[in-house]
Amino acid sequence: MKKVGIIGWRGMVGSVLMERMREENDFKDIEPLFFSTSQAGQEGPEINGTTYELLDARDLSLLKETDILLSCQGGQYTSDIHPKLRNEGWDGYWIDAASTLRMEKDAIIVLDPVNRKIIDQGLTDGIKDYVGGNCTVSLMLMALAGLFEKGWVEWITSQTYQAASGAGAKNMIELVEQMRLVGENAQNLLDDNETALRVDRNVIETVRSPRFLTKQFGAPLAASLIPWIDRAMDNGQTREEWKGISETNKILGYAENQIPIDGCCVRVGSMRCHSQAFTIKLNKDIPLADIENAIVSHNQWVYLVANTKEETVNKLTPTRVSRTLDIPVGRLRKMNLGEQYLSAFSVGDQLLWGAAEPVRRMLKIALEHLG
Ligand code: HSE
Repeated sequence: MKKVGIIGWRGMVGSVLMERMREENDFKDIEPLFFSTSQAGQEGPEINGTTYELLDARDLSLLKETDILLSCQGGQYTSDIHPKLRNEGWDGYWIDAASTLRMEKDAIIVLDPVNRKIIDQGLTDGIKDYVGGNCTVSLMLMALAGLFEKGWVEWITSQTYQAASGAGAKNMIELVEQMRLVGENAQNLLDDNETALRVDRNVIETVRSPRFLTKQFGAPLAASLIPWIDRAMDNGQTREEWKGISETNKILGYAENQIPIDGCCVRVGSMRCHSQAFTIKLNKDIPLADIENAIVSHNQWVYLVANTKEETVNKLTPTRVSRTLDIPVGRLRKMNLGEQYLSAFSVGDQLLWGAAEPVRRMLKIALEHLG
């Protein structure tokens, strides 16, 4: 059995990965080794009756004994360790959830329901680095790849509604702490059935207070939103917005004739589901029924939600989709702008298809390839 080293298995993405690997019984096919940057020698996870001792995630000689390394440890670890391992001649598969290597020439961004052919070609060509994509990009492609596959997309704008989880585990906790402070401060007014305007004044005073808890986000998110994600690029975009065009085109293998994709990425008070509103410019007038058909026939996780109030509020929300692999697409309609303009809305779990699932599946693909 192939030796697979897993690093960062206790963090948020790593924990979701472990959960999925247990659910799918993935451990039966591998000899797992669990690495830690801080707890080497201590007890690690128990898998099928065996408790694994944690190995030192900075010990290159141990890492080099593996056939595959799967890291959810974050970008800094990748920057520190990956070049050293490669310099020392380790030629195993490096599968990574962090963004560090994504745009490298010799790395493939993995989303196998969308780019399995590119992944297979990479394996045949001896490419060794496979990296999960940005969450909004992966979730957009899981929803809309059917339209790209048909060659119907001229350009897309995506306005995002991104969950706290995308910013990290501490941010999820901070969001709920913020909600608690808002609720606690308004409690007496609510108990006294005060008017909405009085409650509103209380809420805004809470979130504007210099003492309000904003250590992680740098601004209130509860009862508000933050229209900025990641750092600034030179052209006025944020890096999250830049990833839309660069990663999507790389995943789809469009080196030339890139499809323009742009939009505004916004953090909202959802816990772990990213949502996106798309405007899609089609390159010809295509009947809505054909569009629907192309979307749903692309993969087994995407499905349509009827463009009605009842279906939408019940089925096209983070509340419904959280902790599932579902990719609902709804609010689908031709726009007043013209027959070639399509509006759509999609929701997806940022920790599953947005992070852990593509790398979990890549591990299986790499194992199949190794035979
Ligand atoms: N950058 C994303 C976000 C998550 O902040 O929501 C990771 O792809």
